[in-house]
Amino acid sequence: MESPILHPFAFLYQIIQWLINTIFSPDPPAPGEKLGRPKIAIIGAGLTGVSAASHCVGHGFDVQIFEAGPREHLGGIWSKVNNTSGLQIHSLMYRFNPSVKWKGGYPNREQIVSQITELWKRYGLESKTKFNTPVEKVYQDEKGRWVINKTSEGRFDGIIAAVGTCGDAKMPHITKQEVFKGEIYHSSDLDGKQAKGKSIIVIGGGASAVEALEFASHEEAEKIYILARSDKWIIPRNMFVNIALSLNIFGGQTIFSWIPELLLKKFFYRDLEDLAPTHKGLFTGTPMVNSDVMDKVRSGKAEWLRGDIESFTQDGIKFNVRAKGVPVDGPGKVRIIKGDIVVMATGYDRPSLNFLPDSNFEEPYAPPNWYLQTFPPQHPSICCNNWYVPPSKIKKENQLIQYSTYVNAIGTVGNWHIGIYTRILLMFLSDPLTRPRTFWMQRWIDMTRVLKKFAPTNAFDFFTYLELVWWFTFCIAINPFRCKWAFFVFFGIGHGLPRRVVDAEDKLRHSLGMNNGDTCDVGKSF
Ligand SMILES: Cc1cc2nc3c(=O)[nH]c(=O)nc-3n(C[C@H](O)[C@H](O)[C@H](O)COP(=O)(O)OP(=O)(O)OC[C@H]3O[C@@H](n4cnc5c(N)ncnc54)[C@H](O)[C@@H]3O)c2cc1C
Ligand SMILES: NC(=O)c1ccc[n+]([C@@H]2O[C@H](COP(=O)([O-])OP(=O)(O)OC[C@H]3O[C@@H](n4cnc5c(N)ncnc54)[C@H](OP(=O)(O)O)[C@@H]3O)[C@@H](O)[C@H]2O)c1
Repeated sequence: MESPILHPFAFLYQIIQWLINTIFSPDPPAPGEKLGRPKIAIIGAGLTGVSAASHCVGHGFDVQIFEAGPREHLGGIWSKVNNTSGLQIHSLMYRFNPSVKWKGGYPNREQIVSQITELWKRYGLESKTKFNTPVEKVYQDEKGRWVINKTSEGRFDGIIAAVGTCGDAKMPHITKQEVFKGEIYHSSDLDGKQAKGKSIIVIGGGASAVEALEFASHEEAEKIYILARSDKWIIPRNMFVNIALSLNIFGGQTIFSWIPELLLKKFFYRDLEDLAPTHKGLFTGTPMVNSDVMDKVRSGKAEWLRGDIESFTQDGIKFNVRAKGVPVDGPGKVRIIKGDIVVMATGYDRPSLNFLPDSNFEEPYAPPNWYLQTFPPQHPSICCNNWYVPPSKIKKENQLIQYSTYVNAIGTVGNWHIGIYTRILLMFLSDPLTRPRTFWMQRWIDMTRVLKKFAPTNAFDFFTYLELVWWFTFCIAINPFRCKWAFFVFFGIGHGLPRRVVDAEDKLRHSLGMNNGDTCDVGKSF
């Protein structure tokens, strides 16, 4: 515990986290305790899967986690990136579980993986995780229960797919790459690389490019070039600014969006306003969160260039520098950028949900156009949490194409909503009167499309955190059958009362001779 006198803010932060843990963390099951049905299959052992599993077992539901990678990949993408990687947003916005205890505002990779591992152990999930088990196929048996890969893996009443937003490192082949005499690495593979006194070229203009810039600067590189094909908004690494932006309840660009855009240009970009996107609104894509990048560019240590790569040369890259507003592949001025190391900050392949039944991918309700962006309308017992789709690729003709819930957002993929989505699924599984019919899920999707009609993106291609809270409120708190669950869904406490009501309803249905034998996958409610 930090000293309240020497580090008052750190002390306060620890007290707040202790309170959150004490109030909101469900008790782990006792060692050897037998958990009952409904039983849930969780696909992926990253922070979303582990956190979701801890909520399930903490509320008495049995789980089985299936992880494609080996034990060393517990923690998902965070187990695979550089030791220097860490959060850009404040850890207060990355509380993926109420029991997480961050030491400071911006934990690094090692601290994040250790928090995930501790959570996994605390909730007794070691014996409930199957590593080296990629899920390739999911189907229903004759009773409507889910089978994962094959029947010997067990049968499940619900599924949480937590396959993440970043799969394998993406390394595009660039013209004449083989003639380059220097070294080429992906941005996630920089541990131990020597950059001191060298010239580093970073390809890409996303969050990984900014991290590579930080790495190179920390390693005392002589010069760093960022070669960005398209402009993205950068917002300061300031918790208050980040939270304020995520409070846009409209979840998209509005007639007022020029206000934060102008403030960012005047007070954050300042002399570097040229780097701010012209034709792309702030609330249309996930912004990068970083403040150092501006200082590095101002100091001349780094140069941020907008344009297109023409080819590699022996000692660098031939690059067509474009002026602001000129579209990709438009006219520009060719420049030879010399470098010793090229870092491909070109992103990651998107993890696939192709193992789910095809019925989940039918237009106009293909992802991300799902109920609460997470539940496919055909199957209320499937919850796909924190998964990503490039908006232009929503088709299922071949196995290379992926789909998702999380497209672009101002918010975070590691927070409160993991628990909320998990508890919504638990509610659907335990209370038939709350489980929505396909028809009504589709109507909610249509309504959201209408409400976001004037947004420049499709309704579900961008959202903000407050918009999520509105969705939850609308679908849970003001629904006559679900409102009894609202406190539980939002905070993870107060499970007893709705459970008792459901037991009484079940008894009544039995006494009336009504069929209670439907599967957890059949919706009954609105
Ligand atoms: C360097 C870096 C920094 C980041 N920083 C932030 C940040 O500051 N804020 C933020 O919000 N996000 C950030 N992200 C995004 C990050 O992906 C998420 O925050 C978070 O780690 C996602 O966790 P997850 O559990 O959903 O997915 P992952 O951590 O990707 O875990 C998914 C797991 O599912 C497994 N899996 C996939 N498919 C299958 C299958 N078919 N069968 C079985 N298992 C499968 C994978 O092997 C993997 O272990 C960052 C990403 C990177 C790469
Ligand atoms: N600490 C953090 O917050 C942090 C750090 C790293 C990653 N992340 C998260 O991880 C995810 C991935 O981020 P990322 O930066 O790795 O990937 P990304 O956001 O997909 O960005 C990849 C960048 O590479 C460019 N690019 C791709 N292929 C290219 C090519 N062939 N030639 C030239 N440029 C090319 C892209 O340009 P176009 O845009 O024009 O396609 C884009 O600028 C995001 O969700 C991000 O938020 C977060």
